[in-house]
Formats: sequence, structure tokens, C-alpha cells
Amino acid sequence: MNLYPAVDPIPLPAPVWLLKLLHIVTLALHFVAVEMLLGGLLLAILLSMFGKSAHARVTARALARRLTVVMTYVINLGVPPLLFAQVLYGRALYTSSVLIGVYWIAIVPTLILTYWLLYKFTARLEQGKSAWWVGLTAWVLAGSVARMLSTNMTLMLRPETWRAMYSASAMGVYLPTGDPTLTPRWLLMLAGGLLVGGLWLVYLAGRSTFTAEEKQFVAGLGGKVAAGCGLVYLAAGLWAASVQPQAVKTGLMHGIASHPLYRYEGMAGYGWVALVVAAVLLGAIAGFGKIAAGWLGWAGALAAVLMEILFTVYRDGVRDVTLLSKGYDVWDRVVVTNWGVVGLFLVLFVGGLGVIGWLVSVVARAQKTMEGAA
Ligand code: HEM
Repeated sequence: MNLYPAVDPIPLPAPVWLLKLLHIVTLALHFVAVEMLLGGLLLAILLSMFGKSAHARVTARALARRLTVVMTYVINLGVPPLLFAQVLYGRALYTSSVLIGVYWIAIVPTLILTYWLLYKFTARLEQGKSAWWVGLTAWVLAGSVARMLSTNMTLMLRPETWRAMYSASAMGVYLPTGDPTLTPRWLLMLAGGLLVGGLWLVYLAGRSTFTAEEKQFVAGLGGKVAAGCGLVYLAAGLWAASVQPQAVKTGLMHGIASHPLYRYEGMAGYGWVALVVAAVLLGAIAGFGKIAAGWLGWAGALAAVLMEILFTVYRDGVRDVTLLSKGYDVWDRVVVTNWGVVGLFLVLFVGGLGVIGWLVSVVARAQKTMEGAA
């Protein structure tokens, strides 16, 4: 029996490979921003809670000032993969979204509240007021948005549970239960936040807006966080991979005759492990050597971006192989490419990236004030 709603009779307007490529690139960038938000915010909270020194206060404030900007990237880089995911996986994703409808819709007000709290957190830090509890509330809310997303992205892979959920209530008020992959997957994202947050500090330590002493503090702290939490991230990744169904593990390890691509997506997992190990080593060099060098920061940033790309490729493989094992083949769609529209999209896409690059260059050239300045 086919567990999915009927396929939309309107054909796809672009080849599946192009939609998947754009999906993976934009989602990986969303994940970079998400990890910066989750990890950077937690580090800023911990520094403002426990950090007694002036360096700790300056570092917390430096992170907080940037978090509201990071949040814009989290949101804007979340929209494109949502659109691509709906085009490619709509029959599964729409169904799971409806089943948890109340929680899914609740993401929007939760995001608005999180954003407002981030501004409050920064403002209170600037004014020298107690701020950790505001930051912590924002972090808990952001973590719950992450939980909702993990819930939906795993429920869409379990069509066998949909009917019972819908029979229990059509109001979208029940959360799914009994999925062993959900919590490891969510915790993996949370753990990744601290690794990326640590690398972010190593990068910031190379900025000229910190004094030499502050740089040493920021590099030392960030490096140690990256090194320690990188190992936790690695363990969480291995855990999340190990709880996948056997058919998924075998499909990614040995490939599937009809879909040779999945073997390569599985191999991205090894690349991810190598990059996490490289990031841990970079963190250890910066952290224990208290080295605030520009090249270390850039190397860490590059490792973080590549790590998220390979993670997203592997995760894509997990989804496709899981769905295939339940009769949903994402490649099996009627495509009638509208090259005019695809061309226009690509021109606007590249133009958009150019505008972002220009924005970043304007910020980079702007007159700098020292982070420690009131
Ligand atoms: C506080 C804000 C946010 C956080 C912490 C967050 C976190 C996450 C996490 C943890 C995942 C991975 C879930 C998993 O697969 O286990 C995810 C996926 C995703 N997020 Fe976000 N997110 C945020 C905001 C947004 C927004 C505003 C959008 C869209 C407008 C968005 C779109 C997506 C999409 C589309 C995916 C999954 C795409 C796919 O699997 O194809 N996110 N996000």
C-alpha cells in the first residue's frame, strides 16, 4: 500500500539534481548560522553568568552584539531550503507538518519572541545589568524551535505512524512518540553549536577590535571550547548515525544498485568525521597555545562551513534512503524544465550572493570601535 498522498500532477519546473543541489547548499548555510546562534548564545550566557573578569564581560558582549545579526541569517537562510524541501518532499513534509500543526505554527511566535529577547539580552549587557536569564530564555526558545524542526524532519520519514496519529486527533496537537532517531538528531545539532561557537571565538580573537590581552583570552577560551565540545559533537554524530534503521545504514554504506549516488552521500559521513577532528585540533592549537592568529580563525571558519556541507549531504542521504525503503523515490518525478525561469532564478541567486558579499565588505570597511569600549 502506498502510504503517501497522490503526487501533484504539475511537473517539477527544474531537474531534481538542481533542486537538490540548491537545497543542500542553502540548508548547509542555514545550519552554519543555526550553530552560531545556539553555541554563541550559550557561551555568552555562561560568560555573563560565571565570568568575573573584565575580559569575560567584553567577550560576552562581543558575542551578543553579533547574535541579532546572526539571527537574520538563520531566518533568511532557512526559507530557501524550506521551499526546496517542499518541492522535493511535499507529500511527506506537508503531511507531517499538518499532523503536528499546532507546534509547527507555534514556531513563528516563538521565533519572534526569541528575536526580541536577543535584543534585550544585548541591551542589558551593554548597560551592565544582569542579563543571563534573558539570554537563557532566548536559548531555551531557540532550542525548542530546533526540537520542533527535528520532530517534523523525522516524522516525515515515518509514514507508518501517520494514520494512528491522525485518528487520535486531527487537530495537530499530538507530538509523535517512539522514534529512536529524534533525540540523538536534536542533541547533535545542540552539540554542534558549542563546537561552532568555540571556532567563532577563535575567529573573533583575530579581529583588531580586541586588545592583545583580550585576544589571548578569547582565543584560549574559544579554542578549548572547540576542542572539548568537538569531541562531544563527534560522539553525538556517531550516536545519531548508529540509531538509524539497518536498511539506511546498509544503503549508505554499500549503496543501492538503482541509486548509486547514495553510497557517495554515505561517504560524506567519513569526510564529516575528518573535518570535526581537524576542527578539534585547530581548537586545541588556539586554546592551549592561546594563539590569536588570523589564519587559525579563517581555517576554523572554513572547517565549520565544510563540516556543515558534508553533514547536510549525509543527512540528505539518510532521508532519501529512509524514504526509498518506504516506497518514496525523490528522483521519480515528472520534470518539465522551464529553462527561462531557471535561468532567471540563477541570475537572481548569484546577484543576491553578490549583494550579501557587498554588504559584508561594507561592514568590514566600516570604522571600528574597540569591543571593550563602553
Ligand atoms: C531559532 C531559529 C531556528 C533554529 C534553532 C533552527 C534549527 C534547525 C535545526 C536544528 C534543524 C535540523 C532539524 C533536523 O533535521 O533534525 C533545522 C532544519 C531546518 N530549518 Fe531551521 N532553525 C531555525 C529557524 C528556521 C527558520 C526561520 C526557517 C524557515 C523559515 C527554518 C527552516 C529550516 C528547514 C527548512 C530545515 C530542514 C530542511 C530539510 O531538512 O530539508 N529554520 N533548523
